Amino acid sequence: MPWTLADCPDQQGRTALITGANSGLGLETARALAARGARVLLACRSHAKATATCQELAAVGGELIPLELDLADLVSVQQAARTVRERWGALDLLINNAGVMAPPRQLSAQGLELQFAVNHLGHFALTQGLLPLMQQRPGARVVHVSSGASYFGSIAFDDLQGERRYDAWAAYAQSKLANMITALELQRRLRDQGSGVLSLAAHPGLARTNLQPSSVAARGSKLEALAYRLMDPLFQSAAMGALPQLFAATAPTAEAGGFYGPGGVGNLKGYPQPCRIAPAALNPETGARLWQVSEALCQG
Ligand SMILES: NC(=O)c1ccc[n+]([C@@H]2O[C@H](COP(=O)([O-])OP(=O)(O)OC[C@H]3O[C@@H](n4cnc5c(N)ncnc54)[C@H](OP(=O)(O)O)[C@@H]3O)[C@@H](O)[C@H]2O)c1
Repeated sequence: MPWTLADCPDQQGRTALITGANSGLGLETARALAARGARVLLACRSHAKATATCQELAAVGGELIPLELDLADLVSVQQAARTVRERWGALDLLINNAGVMAPPRQLSAQGLELQFAVNHLGHFALTQGLLPLMQQRPGARVVHVSSGASYFGSIAFDDLQGERRYDAWAAYAQSKLANMITALELQRRLRDQGSGVLSLAAHPGLARTNLQPSSVAARGSKLEALAYRLMDPLFQSAAMGALPQLFAATAPTAEAGGFYGPGGVGNLKGYPQPCRIAPAALNPETGARLWQVSEALCQG
């Protein structure tokens, strides 16, 4: 039996934070969790967009709260975590969803390559800041939104910021592999601490969101725009694309350290299923190394 939205358990009394909740998969995840009665913190870089999304979803149910968070600035990340600690004091679900895909080389506020900074490091820092609020919550979960691109990624430890050589797609794949590695390393650490918090990962296959138009706009590539038009039949809706992360966040059968994606051909579309994890993500030494480097970069 496929897992559908109807299987998403009741979320009343639970608080979820979703990054990038104003668009695409994040928006659909917010809609689904609010409809199940959750308090949903919509953590977005644009307060105006977050507020507009809260208004758009107001009739759905739950409680919707805009939260300012720019993952490209570690100061903003620390501030957002502080706000959550001070105002709500507890968190059940952290869904690290926001992302940017394959822009020309740009730098974060701290001078780091943008995809590494937003997709990986900002989420890493946010998770560190929020985990203490999750430890005492039964059934708490951190979901890392990765991608099929993780299968093609490698971590260039000698040039993490693409200073010597930058390829926009390789940097995207690196950041999405980093999400997967972090999901597994966090799970190992939580297990070793005897924590009940689970760390899991998900990917949406190919979902029609703002990710592709933003990528095309950033690169100004007419060829890419054409490629997306031709590939359109392979894509599924954002609502379908959000199901694997909703499964990872809420399904009682989702497992710690699991990776969930669409179950159809090539894992491009369909209902959530466990997926193969990129072999490059499985080595605990790589996990420990990326963790160490990420901690050091967060400390500046
Ligand atoms: N769509 C797919 O086919 C696909 C496939 C594989 C993986 N994914 C992953 O799915 C996740 C969600 O993407 P999506 O497809 O839903 O794309 P989307 O519609 O473009 O949404 C991305 C979200 O991330 C936010 N964001 C970008 N930079 C940010 C920053 N510096 N700080 C905070 N938020 C920021 C965006 O905010 P703005 O609206 O302000 O730009 C937006 O809310 C990403 O991690 C992506 O890598 C998507």
